[in-house]
Amino acid sequence: MASDGTAAASASRKDDHVRLAAAQRREPATRNDFDDVELVHHALDGIDASEVDLRTRVAHWTWRSPLYLNGMTGGTPKTTAVNRELAVAARETGMPMGSGSIGIALDDPDAAAGFRVIREENPAGLVFANIGVGRSADEARRAVDLLEADALQVHLNAVQETIMPEGSRAFSGWAASLEAIVAASEVPVIVKEVGFGLSRRTLERLRDMGVRLADVSGSGGTDFARIENARRSASDYAFLIGHGSSAVRSLLDAPEDGPTPLGSGGVRTPLDAVRALALGARAVGVAGAFLAPAVSGGAAEVVAVVRTWTSQLRDLHALFGAPTPEALLTKDVLVHGGVREFCELRGID
Ligand code: FNR
Repeated sequence: MASDGTAAASASRKDDHVRLAAAQRREPATRNDFDDVELVHHALDGIDASEVDLRTRVAHWTWRSPLYLNGMTGGTPKTTAVNRELAVAARETGMPMGSGSIGIALDDPDAAAGFRVIREENPAGLVFANIGVGRSADEARRAVDLLEADALQVHLNAVQETIMPEGSRAFSGWAASLEAIVAASEVPVIVKEVGFGLSRRTLERLRDMGVRLADVSGSGGTDFARIENARRSASDYAFLIGHGSSAVRSLLDAPEDGPTPLGSGGVRTPLDAVRALALGARAVGVAGAFLAPAVSGGAAEVVAVVRTWTSQLRDLHALFGAPTPEALLTKDVLVHGGVREFCELRGID
C-alpha cells in the first residue's frame, strides 16, 4: 500500500502483510456484521439451480460470477510467487483480479516484475492495477500500463497509514489527488478502502468527484489495524483494532445516487457474498479468504476453493429463489443486533 520509507522497508512490509493476513485466517472464524444479516427463509420460494445465471454486469463488463479477487500483493520474491498462484487461479476460474499496490514498483523498477506476473499468467483476464491515493495521475497511468490493466483500484487507507510506523500522516491532499487521477484515467477507476469501510459521506464525495465504482471494503475480515500493530515493537495503536465500518453498514448506508457499490471486507463464505449482494453490492470482493489457500496450497487450492464457492453461490441463489444476483435485491432481509442499532441511528428502513 501507499508508503514513504525505503524500498527495502516497503519490501519487508509486503512480506509481513501476507504472513500476518494469512495467519489471521488460520484463527477460528470470528463473528462479524454479516452474522447480523438474515435472509428470511421462505420454504417454498426455491428455484432450480440450473435456472440460476450468475453473470454480473459491472461497468461495461459482464463477469462470469459476482466474485472477484481483491487487490493484495506483489513486488518481493515471496509476494511475486503468491501473485503467480493467484493469477493462475484467476485465469483458471475467469475471476477478475486486483494487484497489490504498485507504488513499490514505481519507486523501485526491480519490483515491477512481481506485478507483471499477474498479466503474464493471465493475458486475457480482467486485471485491476492498484495504487494508493496521493500518487499523481501520471503515476496512476504508469501503474495501469505496467499491468495493461482493465481498471484501476485506488485505495484509501488512512487508518493503516496512521498505525504504520513509516506511514503518512498527511491526508489533506487526498481529495485533490483522487480527483486528478479520476479525471485523467483512461480505464474505469474503482475507489476502495482496505478494511475500514466507506461511509455515506465518503461515497457522496466520491460521487461528486465523478467516481463510478466504489468498493466499500469494510471491517470484520482482514484487519490492518491488527497487522500493523503486530509489525510495531509496541502495540501502541491497539485501540484502533476494530475501528471503521463494516461492509454491511457501508452498503446499507450507501446513497442511491452514489457510485455503484462493490462489497468486500469480511466475506468469509458464499453466504456472506449473498448477503452483500442482497444489501446492494453489485459484485463481491474477497482477499484474505482466497489468500490463505494460495499460501498453503498454491493455485490448485485457490481454484478448488473458488469452484466450491461458485457452486455454493449458485445453490444459495436457488435456495433463496433468485435467478440472478440482482434478484437478491428483492428478497426479504432482516438485520439484527448492532447492525439494527446502526440502521436506527442512521434512519435506514
Ligand atoms: C490487502 N489489501 C490491499 N488493498 C489494496 O487496495 N492495496 C493493497 O496493496 C492491499 N494489500 C493487501 C495485502 C494483504 C496481504 C491483504 C490480505 C489485503 C486489502 C484488501 O484488498 C481488502 O480490502 C481487505 O483485505 C478486506 O478484505 P478481506 O481480506 O476481509 O476479504
